[in-house]
Amino acid sequence: TTGETIFSGIQPTGVPHLGNYLGALKQWSRLQETNPDAKLIYCLVDLHAITKPQDPEQLRRWKKESLATLLASGVDPKKATIFEQSRVPEHSELQWIFSTLIGIGPLSRMTQWKLNLVEAHTDLIIYGKSKEDLDNPSLKLGLLSYPVLQAADILVHRATAVPVGEDQCQHLELARDIARIFNHNYGATFPLPKTLLSPAKRIMSLTNPLQKMSKSDPQEKSKIILTDSEQVIKKKFYKAVTDNFADMGIAIHPEQRPGLTNLINIYTHMEGLSRTPEEVAEEFRDISYKELKEKCIEVVNRELEPFRKEYARLMQEDAYLEEVVLEGSRQAKESAVATMNLVRKAVGL
Ligand code: ADP
Ligand code: NA
Repeated sequence: TTGETIFSGIQPTGVPHLGNYLGALKQWSRLQETNPDAKLIYCLVDLHAITKPQDPEQLRRWKKESLATLLASGVDPKKATIFEQSRVPEHSELQWIFSTLIGIGPLSRMTQWKLNLVEAHTDLIIYGKSKEDLDNPSLKLGLLSYPVLQAADILVHRATAVPVGEDQCQHLELARDIARIFNHNYGATFPLPKTLLSPAKRIMSLTNPLQKMSKSDPQEKSKIILTDSEQVIKKKFYKAVTDNFADMGIAIHPEQRPGLTNLINIYTHMEGLSRTPEEVAEEFRDISYKELKEKCIEVVNRELEPFRKEYARLMQEDAYLEEVVLEGSRQAKESAVATMNLVRKAVGL
């Protein structure tokens, strides 16, 4: 087949937040409509979820919750392959082969593992001293090398495009570099996957709008979890950080007014992107911060209410969820085995 293959993944590390929803899940279900001829493959990347200290019972619960989230947000198993990474061991096999091709230097220059390390161990400040970073006992090989596994996740399905938020762009560069090196050493095998940057490329934390909203942020109020009740959503938005420039009116200004800009962005994306953030800011120019927050609360609740209902329903459907993931894993296995046959032959294995 010569058509487009679109691959993306999400870590089953808790119910996703509004950043995941706008930056990933919404985009995933939208692609079902905009690219009906593409092969869509969406993965719960459980092997990535164990790169930080974790609890096995909780991981099992998180996997179920993540699957229910995917389905409740509109990803359709009849239109997309949905599966768990660990059920398709070809991902790990290809990672090993890739790990023989990529240097530790480029990996240590990836920025995301540093953020993860800081988030997992908030007592550590480790920026910019990469030699000492590498001696940090909390830095496990898996945390350093997970971008290589991510490259394998994408390339084992010979994906041509990968929808992601901005935090993943550097990893996608690496995936292309690895594909180039493999193709150069062993012959043309992999397409170079394009980055499909989501329109909501970076939703920021509600409490620290200079940081992205993140699952691993320990601060509850920093993120809207998709299953948060109406009451909780209200409380979190009311507490969201803004600035002292209210008299300047509502306006987009990412550097000076990052909190306000984030609220306008959230509103715009939840409204459905029928207009630009600038147009929204213009309409809201003379309202108060409190009124802007109320508008956010309303639009977020309007969208998440049906989501919450469907999620609660699916969480009772164990047999159905297992069926979806079994069938998805079967399809993913077929795609991965076909690639690994080419890879083994090319490498001489
Ligand atoms: P997290 O970074 O919160 O742990 P994942 O690593 O599982 O979430 O990321 C899943 C997808 O969600 C990726 O495509 C990532 O780019 C996207 N994403 C994560 N956080 C945000 C955010 N704050 N804004 C936009 N997209 C995001
Ligand atoms: Na991420």
